[in-house]
Amino acid sequence: MNAVSTTSDQAAEPAMPDWEAQTPAAIIAFILQRFHDPLRRDLPVLVTTARAVEAAVKEGPLCPAGLANHLEKILVEVESHLDKEEKILFPLILAGRGGSAFMPIKVMMAEHDDHLANLARTRVLTHGFAVPADASQVWRTLYLDLQRFDADLNQHIQLENNVLFTRVMSGQGDR
Ligand SMILES: [Fe+2]
Ligand SMILES: [Fe+2]
Repeated sequence: MNAVSTTSDQAAEPAMPDWEAQTPAAIIAFILQRFHDPLRRDLPVLVTTARAVEAAVKEGPLCPAGLANHLEKILVEVESHLDKEEKILFPLILAGRGGSAFMPIKVMMAEHDDHLANLARTRVLTHGFAVPADASQVWRTLYLDLQRFDADLNQHIQLENNVLFTRVMSGQGDR
C-alpha cells in the first residue's frame, strides 16, 4: 500500500517565499508545483486507501463509514477546479489580463468555500483523525496523509485567495 506523502517530501520542501517580492507568474509556478501536481498524484491514492480501510474496519465507534465515497467526491471536485484554474484563470493572469478575470476569480473562491466544507466533513467522518489503539498501520498512515492533505489545501486556498487573487483584483496582477 502506497503512503501518500513521506517525510522526505516534507524535508525537501522549500520555505515559503516572500510573496510581496514575487511576480504573479512566479506565484502560479509555485502553486502548480507545490500544490496542484501533488493533489493529482495523491488524491486517487487517498481514495483507494480509504476504501481498503473501510473494507477492513466494518464496525466500532471510530469506523470511518462513508469516508472513501466522500474522498471520491473531493477528488472529482478538486480535479475539475484545478483544470479551470490551469486552463482558464491562470492563462488570463499570465497573459496580463488578470484585471478582466473578476468573474472566474469569484467562481474559484466559491469553489474554495466548498473545498473547505469538504475538509470539515472529512474531519467529522474520521472522528477528528482518531484511531483505536489496535488500528492498522495503513489506517494510521491514511489519517496522517489526510491531515497533511487538509493542511496543504488550506495553505493552497489561502495563497490563492489572499495573495494571488487579491493582487490581481487590485490591479497589480499583470506580470
Ligand atoms: Fe489551485
Ligand atoms: Fe483554487
